[in-house]
Amino acid sequence: MSHYHAVKLVRRPEKALDASLFEKVSLPIPEPAEGQLLVRQSHMSLDPAMIGWMSADTESYIPPVALGEVMRSSGVGEVVASRHPDFAVGERVMGMFGWTQYALSSGAGITKIDAALPAEMVLSVLALPGLTATQGLLRLGKPKAGETLVVTGAAGSVGSLVGQLAKAEGLRVIGVVGSEDKAQWVVDTLGFDGAINYKTDDLAAKLAELTPNGVDLFFENTGGPIQQHIFGRMNAHGRIIVCGLIADYLSDTPAPGPSWLNIIKKRLTIQGFTMPDHWHEIPELIATLLPYVQSGKLQYRAHVLEGLDAAMEGLPLLVNGGNQGKLMVAL
Ligand SMILES: NC(=O)c1ccc[n+]([C@@H]2O[C@H](COP(=O)([O-])OP(=O)(O)OC[C@H]3O[C@@H](n4cnc5c(N)ncnc54)[C@H](OP(=O)(O)O)[C@@H]3O)[C@@H](O)[C@H]2O)c1
Repeated sequence: MSHYHAVKLVRRPEKALDASLFEKVSLPIPEPAEGQLLVRQSHMSLDPAMIGWMSADTESYIPPVALGEVMRSSGVGEVVASRHPDFAVGERVMGMFGWTQYALSSGAGITKIDAALPAEMVLSVLALPGLTATQGLLRLGKPKAGETLVVTGAAGSVGSLVGQLAKAEGLRVIGVVGSEDKAQWVVDTLGFDGAINYKTDDLAAKLAELTPNGVDLFFENTGGPIQQHIFGRMNAHGRIIVCGLIADYLSDTPAPGPSWLNIIKKRLTIQGFTMPDHWHEIPELIATLLPYVQSGKLQYRAHVLEGLDAAMEGLPLLVNGGNQGKLMVAL
């Protein structure tokens, strides 16, 4: 094969995500120059953050993907040619390779991974979801045994790991999800103490029933109407970790936040974070996460699409809740 496929962003999303935003191109496979390596990607991740990266917003934590540029994503692959002193042919790596079968790299931001680990496991646990859960919950949230955590997007890639890490630390964990199947999965398989279906449950009543001692830690992945109910049940000195607000990503007018009064009355700490600030800490984050993985405390499910065409069609699953676990593409 002398050519490979990649997908470029050619239009910015307005209300909907669909294949018309992208263009698939065929390109000659490049040779690495001195100091470069060539990676053949086997799996790439699809993430809600892509909605932000595709927008024209230049004020965010990372510049937008330029129109005509290969769409940004993280992934796992194998080094197939190298003129870089630190990378050898055959090594397995993860990094921001983009929507492409082959990628040239200078080695910056690339992490070597154990050849024996399945790509699904790497992208579901050790890559962005696990790093985010570790940074957000363990480093910022500082969970303590006996506390109550509520996590939104609880059956998703990040939320499912946040809940399991919190269970491993001895917290009571309540997950907010969008279907009965997801509610059943987080309780019966992942061991959460309860689940709230934000689409069908009486939010205030169910939350009160499942958090009799209030909420100490709120890990926010979604926004949406349940946010104000959780905010209202925060205990004194509670912590709110704002990881994502997917309910607002495609809306013209983000939902109004709750009144700030509770922040004073309950002496709350509210902390937003984004992982690109922490790329240089990946080895330390993995070292923190690894013991939970090795002791079998973290389960995951991967939702694998096949091929770049499926990637272009697959992004809406993240906003309509159609993904059952970590959404990724096998190339
Ligand atoms: N701060 C960071 O650096 C960082 C890093 C990674 C991820 N994130 C954020 O974390 C969140 C979760 O990401 P993920 O990769 O783990 O995705 P994910 O949870 O695997 O997939 C997205 C899920 O969000 C839920 N959802 C979609 N629209 C919703 C709405 N209007 N209201 C409530 N829930 C909705 C859906 O689940 P249901 O079926 O349950 O509705 C969907 O399956 C996202 O907001 C993402 O942007 C932030």
